Amino acid sequence: MNFLADHALFDYISISDYDTPGAGSTSGRPCHFTLITENSMKAIRDNARKLMEKFCYVCPVCNGRACAGEVPGMGGLGTGSSFAGNVQALAEIKFNMRLIHDVIEPDTSVTLLGRKLALPVLAAPIGGVSFNMGGGVSEEEYIEAVINGCKAKSILGCTGDGVPEFIHGAGFAAIRKAGGHGIPFIKPWEDEELFKKIDLARESGAEIMGMDIDAAGLITLRKMGIQVSPKSLTKLTEIIRRSGMKFILKGIMTPDEAELAVEAGADAIVVSNHGGRVLDHAPATAAVLPAIAAAVKGRIAVLVDGGVRSGGDVLKLLALGADAAMIGRPFSIAAVGGLQEGVENYIDTLQGELKQTMVLTGTRSAASVDRRILFSRE
Ligand SMILES: Cc1cc2nc3c(=O)[nH]c(=O)nc-3n(C[C@H](O)[C@H](O)[C@H](O)COP(=O)(O)O)c2cc1C
Repeated sequence: MNFLADHALFDYISISDYDTPGAGSTSGRPCHFTLITENSMKAIRDNARKLMEKFCYVCPVCNGRACAGEVPGMGGLGTGSSFAGNVQALAEIKFNMRLIHDVIEPDTSVTLLGRKLALPVLAAPIGGVSFNMGGGVSEEEYIEAVINGCKAKSILGCTGDGVPEFIHGAGFAAIRKAGGHGIPFIKPWEDEELFKKIDLARESGAEIMGMDIDAAGLITLRKMGIQVSPKSLTKLTEIIRRSGMKFILKGIMTPDEAELAVEAGADAIVVSNHGGRVLDHAPATAAVLPAIAAAVKGRIAVLVDGGVRSGGDVLKLLALGADAAMIGRPFSIAAVGGLQEGVENYIDTLQGELKQTMVLTGTRSAASVDRRILFSRE
């Protein structure tokens, strides 16, 4: 499918070459790139809405309200408050606007775990296309779109895990095909299964792997009678050592557990409540991030996810202490709606938004973001 060939060109020639209100250029110069991206994203989202019917409503803002309780599906668990809270907390953070400076071409790149990323964003691990997204594309098509789209735009895509087996199988295969470019995440299985999956993750050629320890509470696995569990510090240390890879621990929500992750030998944590899918009434990730970053930043890379919907949201989280952000559901919508081109367009959109917000807050580099770009009443 050459999705954009069908949609983008028409959009491009039908609109002005110059700044359009809301089109994203601050320069007064032509902004073809932004215009193409914005109009293509609309077509991609419209396509996703059709393909994900009854599983995801592709709402104007992906905020967890229309899909509350829809797990399996794309929603948050129970009342959906943890998912909605993530989005809400980010929406409540405001920027100080500053324009008397010389930041015109900000640098969006960062180095994370030894890898240079064009922007501080990773596609979060998401799997289960058939029972979470309606199966409009296959698991293989989906995950290849995510991994290859991220690779083409010089960021990293992650792969998910679960039951049935083909979820992680498709992920490992996509990373292998992409020459090891990607991060496989596995669930906190019990011993034998866990070590088998770690070996498979290594064989994918990836240098970095992760475990979503919070999936110990995942209802979709429990319903299938699968054994996942929390891990003691001793066990976690053994798992990380045994992996022999750079290791990301996903699902950290308190400073004390961030300290334990450092002690266990993790290279990075993801401050995450699994997009609100494991525990109802969990706090928002943006709310817990500052204390966690204050506790461990510099000793371990700090990633965060949950409700990140724009380049501006990414910048807010960097200002609160994150080194990079993961984004979940919007990548799924882009991948289902436009496959690899959808993912690439979404990344272009994010990078455009990030750059613009950096200019308007006087932020020169994504690698060093000043907390004072955020508005505070005090
Ligand atoms: C349908 C679905 C499937 C998911 N599967 C996984 C998974 O296999 N492994 C994992 O670590 N996280 C999984 N997650 C959680 C995401 O990685 C991420 O933490 C979350 O989606 C971030 O929130 P956001 O979607 O609001 O950006 C899943 C999330 C969704 C919505």
